[in-house]
Amino acid sequence: MSKRVVTLAHYYTAPEIQQMADKVGDSLELSLYARDANADVIVFAGVRFMAETAKILNPQAEVILPDAGSTCSLVTQTDVKRLKAWRDKHADHVHVSYINSSAEHKALSDWIVTSRNVDDIIAHLYAQGQKVIFSPDRNMGAYLNYQYGYDMPLWSAVCEVHDKFNETALNEGMAAVAGPRYLIAHPESPLPVLKRADYVGSTSGMLNWVKQFDREPDATLFVATEDGILYNMGLARPDLKIVQAPIYAGCQCNQCPYMKLNNVERVQRAQAGEGTRIDYLSHEQMDAARLPIERMLAFSEAQMRQAKPAPEVMPA
Ligand code: 13P
Ligand code: SF4
Repeated sequence: MSKRVVTLAHYYTAPEIQQMADKVGDSLELSLYARDANADVIVFAGVRFMAETAKILNPQAEVILPDAGSTCSLVTQTDVKRLKAWRDKHADHVHVSYINSSAEHKALSDWIVTSRNVDDIIAHLYAQGQKVIFSPDRNMGAYLNYQYGYDMPLWSAVCEVHDKFNETALNEGMAAVAGPRYLIAHPESPLPVLKRADYVGSTSGMLNWVKQFDREPDATLFVATEDGILYNMGLARPDLKIVQAPIYAGCQCNQCPYMKLNNVERVQRAQAGEGTRIDYLSHEQMDAARLPIERMLAFSEAQMRQAKPAPEVMPA
């Protein structure tokens, strides 16, 4: 009997990879798809921490990463031994970790969050009177501390793609365009960029913001994130002028080198059963990492159930 193969792709993969996928989404959506997939094999066209999360949530399935090199700078910049010492130093704090982390890192966490639910989960913890430490993304943590007046001690790793956005290049690039201008940004970007953004959110959040854009039809929308999602934005709103936010003079290639290791040939090979199997995590490691992930999924699914559909006609 042939195996049931499900292919998942993140928004940052190239359009031709997204077209090969059964589902495309942000980190939260892809985690839910992976958990619920009725599949023998999950091909994860994303990066390793996403494939590991899929395996942890659906251990019966074989999970294949098309290219072994698809890591993430937030993972490689985090030494887990040092992280453990840092967490132990803050033993009276709740340790909230971004999903862009290794399985070992997740196992040292109380909660996992994605860029989609991080605001709500941390607000929930503060409302309970908890003290919180946040790892590994320093930019995201700095934004949360600034935006909500928190005092979370932060781990110091960055996304090497988003960390390249800077205020000067942005000011110059936006000033060079006539007419109304808007900036939307992923929270992995540096704080000065986020402070001037009209919207800050996850890849899906930014995509929805663009879908619902109903202001000046001649506006230019600057997007501070990896360029893969511009494909989805262009498909959703071909009528709008959507451009990458500038980084600095010179190379404007704000592409994630790890996401872009997913090419057609490698994904096809993974669908045929070749590639990097996520089969190296012990049951103990997976059990320990699953707890904080499931805590997050339960929180977000409860929120999704409560979400009321938008009224068709806005009240006067
Ligand atoms: P999202 O969860 O917003 O899709 O982000 C994933 C990611 O790696 C951003 O760099
Ligand atoms: Fe990691 Fe940045 Fe690539 Fe996202 S864009 S996978 S955070 S390196």
